[in-house]
Amino acid sequence: MSKKVTNIGVLTSGGDSPGMNACIRAVVRTGLYHSLEMFGIMRGYQGMIDDDIVPMHSRSVANIIQRGGTILKTARCKEFFEFSGRKKAYENLKKHGIDGLVIIGGDGSFRGAQKFANEFDIPCIGLPGTIDKDIAGTDFTIGFDTAVNTAVECIDKIRDTADAHDRLFIIEVMGRDAGYIALHSGIATGAEHILIPERKTDIEDVISSLEEKEKRKKLVNMIVVAEGDDFGGANEVAKVVKERLATADVRVCILGHIQRGGAPSCIDRLIASRMGYAAVEALLEPTGMHHNHMIGILNNRIHYTPLDKAIKAKQKISDEWMKIVKILAS
Ligand code: ADP
Ligand code: F6P
Repeated sequence: MSKKVTNIGVLTSGGDSPGMNACIRAVVRTGLYHSLEMFGIMRGYQGMIDDDIVPMHSRSVANIIQRGGTILKTARCKEFFEFSGRKKAYENLKKHGIDGLVIIGGDGSFRGAQKFANEFDIPCIGLPGTIDKDIAGTDFTIGFDTAVNTAVECIDKIRDTADAHDRLFIIEVMGRDAGYIALHSGIATGAEHILIPERKTDIEDVISSLEEKEKRKKLVNMIVVAEGDDFGGANEVAKVVKERLATADVRVCILGHIQRGGAPSCIDRLIASRMGYAAVEALLEPTGMHHNHMIGILNNRIHYTPLDKAIKAKQKISDEWMKIVKILAS
């Protein structure tokens, strides 16, 4: 039996993602349902260190399920990398009586949570909040679906103007060192090429395919490049394409932070709500068997992954996806 958790703190850390607010709401309201004291920690781990911690009530999370960003703000916090920073954070949590933590963030935030949980007696639950979908143990991360739909909307618009001018567009999407946003948005918009960090980019293959398309007068082409692709971003690819295909009318578009904002999609609101609820239930479970785990959703069921495993593993991209890209983009 583990000690009963009575006061829970929730924070958002690392890059924000649409659906974080829906998740905060679910954590707070599930905790209140169980008559727990709930606290919001501002600006991620920075707020733990600065004692920027506020009580949360049912009304504190009213009217936020549909809003992008995070009402708790988020930050990247250097001091939390040091033991002295984490100790200061622990002392502040103790001052408020907080004895359970929910961290909504990416793998970096989980790395911090894992260290903190090993050093101090406050159980942590990680919830995957990142547009990058670069965490194992879950089919979706909170924010990915919205980000990828934003990218699809933008690429569709770019295709309209590309079509009007017979242009070749090279579009860069986010994802840090993961290619999921590129792969999903690229397939969904019929991109002719998708360049991702998980596969070595063969630029000669791209050029010869574009030459072949030019010969048969297929001049409108979209190349979706993940920002972390090994060849470099969209500008690097454009440089080579312009050098080698003198007649192509090439334009570059970098979608950037637009992918992080906006109202969360229905899927993101749903998974955020389910994960937020499951996080509080996991903290309250009497054996504590899921303390210091990340909660994901695999095959539509809640799935628990120890934080250390969630940190190390990445999702894999199957060769079949790459085959689909090739076959469909002729
Ligand atoms: P994300 O969670 O989106 O991957 P970051 O990698 O920027 O974002 O991590 C968010 C924060 O988590 C960092 O600013 C830091 O405070 C904390 N963190 C990340 N890695 C570690 C680590 N190895 N040790 C302690 N804290 C860490
Ligand atoms: O992790 C989310 C993400 O948007 C990545 O896709 C991107 O590489 C990074 O964060 C951008 O970080 P920043 O907001 O600090 O520019």
